[in-house]
Amino acid sequence: MYGFQYYTPTRVIFGKGAESRTAELIRAFGGSKVLIHYGGGSVVRSGLLKRVTDSLEAAGISYVTLGGAVPNPRLGLVYEGIGLCRKEGVDFLLAVGGGSAIDSAKAIGYGVANEGDVWDFYDYKRKAAGCLPLGVILTIAATGSEMSDSSVITKEEGLVKRGYSSDYGRSKFAIMNPELTMTLPDYQTACGCTDIMMHTMERYFTNGGNMEITDALAEGLLRTVMTNAEILVRDPQNYDARAEVMWAGSLSHNGLTGCGNDGGDWMTHKLEHELGGLYDVAHGAGLAAIWGSWARYVYQHCLPRFLRFAVNVMGVEPEGTDEEIALKGIEALEDFFRRIHMPTNLRELGVNATEEDLVTMAHKCAVGVGGAMGSARLLREEDMLAIFRASR
Ligand code: NZQ
Ligand code: ZN
Repeated sequence: MYGFQYYTPTRVIFGKGAESRTAELIRAFGGSKVLIHYGGGSVVRSGLLKRVTDSLEAAGISYVTLGGAVPNPRLGLVYEGIGLCRKEGVDFLLAVGGGSAIDSAKAIGYGVANEGDVWDFYDYKRKAAGCLPLGVILTIAATGSEMSDSSVITKEEGLVKRGYSSDYGRSKFAIMNPELTMTLPDYQTACGCTDIMMHTMERYFTNGGNMEITDALAEGLLRTVMTNAEILVRDPQNYDARAEVMWAGSLSHNGLTGCGNDGGDWMTHKLEHELGGLYDVAHGAGLAAIWGSWARYVYQHCLPRFLRFAVNVMGVEPEGTDEEIALKGIEALEDFFRRIHMPTNLRELGVNATEEDLVTMAHKCAVGVGGAMGSARLLREEDMLAIFRASR
């Protein structure tokens, strides 16, 4: 077991009608001029944005709005947001939406609170020394960005998708009303469930120090998400299932399911970020499409964990060799992905990748991780290419 630091400063307000407390919370955290940042318009169509702006007006809190954060949010809009905040004297950011709006807001916050080009942080050139305070109203359970220290931004030039992590970027509050996720397309709900699972699995498949309590939390979380993801395929308006998934999303990426290990593997995410950058696919679907190929490539190097996963999470009977059981666990998860209509390879993802694309992605991925990365198995550029090839 490794030592760890666990820091989750975000105040969570969870349940029906939670968004009615937005103005009160902004005030409590010292906000007086707010930038409300959102995505492509779902919060306009659902009426949520109007409810939020009405409540701010009623409370006498002034605000400006900036929509347009796209899935795989772009650096150009971040620059625009930084300029707007400076011009308007904004002192608080409110992201209303999913990971894309939240991550874009975090980047705007870094840009306002620090001199120089905000991309430097995502390019690992320097570290942020602060961030504008941020609050979140979550509309999709997926990335866990509402409680995580991460933000992922895509630079248009060269389609480079990079993450930056800093405690400064953790949100002050996260409003989570599961009802707000009921307008999601089924595909996005399933993408979210996949991403949630993957945040715990990235921490679970390691060769470095594990704790029984962490494993038990992780396995329980994974089983809970799978059960409720299948309920949502049949019954998307099921409040309890929405709530289980939403809370799992936050717990999956706030550090809880990684306490005591070596920090996790994270290579499925790194490989997916190349897919998201190049083909603009939904993050969760990209993860599902690559995971099986990654798992088959690494499982022999992390056999005890794959064995445990197969039995404790996927319910595989412990009969046969360890390798056979581990492989059955991988197949069982792919079967689950199919049941919730997620892809299990690039073709099903709708990506027709050329060999040149795969080489480019493997190279960019290797550069992005500084040469080699992975705890289940250390992967270098040639390994990344082999996984991309196997996922076609
Ligand atoms: O943009 P709008 O119109 O709001 O529509 C969105 C978008 O099309 C829609 N949507 C969201 N809530 C809705 C809704 N539609 C109807 N009703 C609702 N209630 O769903 C689509 C996806 O939204 P998005 O915010 O892009 O999804 P997600 O939360 O999955 O975020 C994905 C981004 O986060 C990054 C991903 O790489 C990707 O760029 N990640 C961020 C992480 C973090 N900050 O910790 C970790 C993750 O691993 C991930 O990399
Ligand atoms: Zn993710």
